[in-house]
Amino acid sequence: PLVSMRELLDHAASNGYGIPAFNVNNLEQVQAVVAAADEVGAPVILQASAGARKYAGASFIKHLILAAAEAYPHIPLVMHQDHGASPQVCQGAIDLGFGSVMMDGSLLEDGKTPATFEYNVAVTRQVVQMAHQVGVTVEGELGCLGNLETGAAGEEDGVGAEGRLERSQMLTDPEEAASFVKATQLDALAIAIGTSHGAYKFSRIPSADILAIDRVKQIHQRIPNTHLVMHGSSSVPAPLLAIINQYGGKIKQTYGVPVAQIQEAIRHGVRKINIDTDIRLAMTGAVRQFLHENPDKFDAREWLKPAREAAKAVCRQRYIDFGCEGQG
Ligand code: G3H
Ligand code: 13P
Ligand code: NA
Ligand code: ZN
Repeated sequence: PLVSMRELLDHAASNGYGIPAFNVNNLEQVQAVVAAADEVGAPVILQASAGARKYAGASFIKHLILAAAEAYPHIPLVMHQDHGASPQVCQGAIDLGFGSVMMDGSLLEDGKTPATFEYNVAVTRQVVQMAHQVGVTVEGELGCLGNLETGAAGEEDGVGAEGRLERSQMLTDPEEAASFVKATQLDALAIAIGTSHGAYKFSRIPSADILAIDRVKQIHQRIPNTHLVMHGSSSVPAPLLAIINQYGGKIKQTYGVPVAQIQEAIRHGVRKINIDTDIRLAMTGAVRQFLHENPDKFDAREWLKPAREAAKAVCRQRYIDFGCEGQG
């Protein structure tokens, strides 16, 4: 059934695991996530970005997720809005029936200009006030996602801050986090610790301390009752890049977030881990391979099926990696 995000994350905190939150845009992605969860007995967070609602249409996104809940009535499932750019966007998602919303006030409404702390507090508090009245969970974000070595906010297609960032902007400050939680009363806080959105996170094999895990510990100690969230948490597996490039793709050499570091973060209070890019890579590789090996096929179901299978395999692995097995 559809459940409360707050309850799902509270359970994860009590039992010391993390839950991958997968971005979904279409039928096959929704099916992949819930089928994987069903196999391993995991709870589910399906999240839709503004881009997802634009691509599929809000009604389609909503009803695809409701269909997942209907088809798998035994799985606890949350319908979450990813990166709400304004209180109005969040209100729209609440009206649509989302049980959880992210107000991303770390950036202005344009989605690329870093906002002031005061702006962030004001918009996030406003969303908490309207959401909590109707039992909807709220995630906020403090700090800007970016590569700590280069100051780059991430992918070229414009998810995240524009231009180069200062190191201090890319690391959430524990004291600021405490003031932010006190002022907003939100449920979950996305923190900046060196991850970034998209496939191009790190240009070299990431070291075992590429993320600021110490920050996670400090923030968790300061705000132990706020669930921490990691965005930009795809691992960009080399085998998935290899399949894409083997079958005609041209993806540059790149590295993602090592799973071991996410597991370490989970030991220090991270409960929700956002993943989109890995599913994109898995599906693209599978489609390229299938069409290359079967140039005579043209039934869309035939190439969507291996794409769905590849996405499911990624999801299944992350559920296991993050300790979700049997927790659903
Ligand atoms: O926050 C970024 C997610 O990967 C969603 O991406 O805005 O292209 O749907 P999108
Ligand atoms: P990735 O691009 O690393 O998959 O991150 C997705 C995300 O944070 C969505 O909010
Ligand atoms: Na941000
Ligand atoms: Zn994100």
